Amino acid sequence: MKLSLEAAAILAAAQLSAAQTYTSCNPTEKTCPADTGLAQWSYFSDFTDASALEHWNITAAPVTTTTEGAKFTINKEGQAPTIASEFYIFFGHVDVKMKASAGTGIISTYMLLSDDLDEIDWEQISTYPTSIQTDYFGKGNTTAYDRDTTVPVINPETEFHTYSLDWTPSRINWLLDGEVVRTLNYHDAVDGYNYPQTPCRIKIGIWAGGDPSNGEGTIEWAGGVTDYSAAPFTMYVESVNVTNYYPASSYTYTDKTGAYTSIKLSNSTEGFPSNSVSVKSANSNINSSVTSFDASKSNASTSGATASASTSGNTASASSSLFTPRCF
Ligand SMILES: *[C@@H]1O[C@H](CO)[C@@H](O)[C@H](O)[C@H]1NC(C)=O
Ligand SMILES: *[C@@H]1O[C@H](CO)[C@@H](O)[C@H](O)[C@H]1NC(C)=O
Ligand SMILES: *[C@@H]1O[C@H](CO)[C@@H](O)[C@H](O)[C@H]1NC(C)=O
Ligand SMILES: *[C@@H]1O[C@H](CO)[C@@H](O)[C@H](O)[C@H]1NC(C)=O
Ligand SMILES: *[C@@H]1O[C@H](CO)[C@@H](O)[C@H](O)[C@H]1NC(C)=O
Ligand SMILES: *[C@@H]1O[C@H](CO)[C@@H](O)[C@H](O)[C@H]1NC(C)=O
Repeated sequence: MKLSLEAAAILAAAQLSAAQTYTSCNPTEKTCPADTGLAQWSYFSDFTDASALEHWNITAAPVTTTTEGAKFTINKEGQAPTIASEFYIFFGHVDVKMKASAGTGIISTYMLLSDDLDEIDWEQISTYPTSIQTDYFGKGNTTAYDRDTTVPVINPETEFHTYSLDWTPSRINWLLDGEVVRTLNYHDAVDGYNYPQTPCRIKIGIWAGGDPSNGEGTIEWAGGVTDYSAAPFTMYVESVNVTNYYPASSYTYTDKTGAYTSIKLSNSTEGFPSNSVSVKSANSNINSSVTSFDASKSNASTSGATASASTSGNTASASSSLFTPRCF
């Protein structure tokens, strides 16, 4: 039995304070505040530079900066150091260069996570030092745990590798050191309904799937009970390179469908937390980064056009635009 971070976090919540997967307001259930978007096309964090952490929220300590990058350490039971981007992206490309933790039952992970619990994961289980898992969840649907794949990787716990996600309205690619190792098409996920498609934050952290307080299924998935006498368990993240395919200063859910076509993009760059990032025009760059994507292989933009037509009359305004597929 495989568990998502969310399910595992719920199981562990009684004892672990640092649940990594949660939502403070689920827009498919009620009206929520808009998400702060990454208004720039690209955002690079070099975690060998201490100032890079300033633009990430440390949601659970300890996370420190070292010459090898950001250091996430579990020293004792109950710790699950995690950082989250201050901003959300709406489709995009993320490269995380990381070295996973060794030990038993320690999960080194990063995910894209949305307010309605769309989730795209990379999860390295320390117990298995020659592989990493990919996974996804749509709208918090955890009724099945059969969506993961296991990808072989050489020395993930002693060497840095670049684990990437390339996420468009039509498909998600997981890339290991630049090679596509998995593709999920929109229609493969409950005909799109469970396809991750809402603005996501980036969350990076480690947690103990093998914590003795976790459910049996979680501990089994994690490859055994974590022996804290072998701590510290450490993951390093050297850098994170983010491209936001639909930059905007905010993203608003205009209804409760959780469909990407319901997301309204602001057309303003005001309010972005940093003025130190590179600013590029989305329109001039988006084409170049997605040219390898073959739009003819997907129906997503077709369904998108249909859905936005039905809602745009109510929500579009001069200073904002509903999501409309561009070159996908
Ligand atoms: C992240 O930190 C900023 C301040 O640096 C704060 O305004 C924001 O609410 C935090 N977000 C979360 C999700 O904790
Ligand atoms: C949840 O996921 C399962 C397995 O993929 C699927 O059969 C089911 O229809 C999904 N439920 C909803 C509400 O999307
Ligand atoms: C980040 O990714 C973008 C888009 O792929 C690329 O052009 C840029 O060179 C990368 N930045 C760094 C510092 O690797
Ligand atoms: C955003 O605003 C600029 C300048 O007002 C305008 O040229 C552009 O077309 C707008 N973009 C969208 C998507 O509304
Ligand atoms: C977009 O990509 C296509 C395919 O590579 C290319 O032919 C076209 O010139 C590009 N358009 C722009 C505006 O860059
Ligand atoms: C396109 O949609 C149709 C109808 O929902 C489906 O049968 C087909 O598999 C889809 N094609 C792709 C490439 O997703």
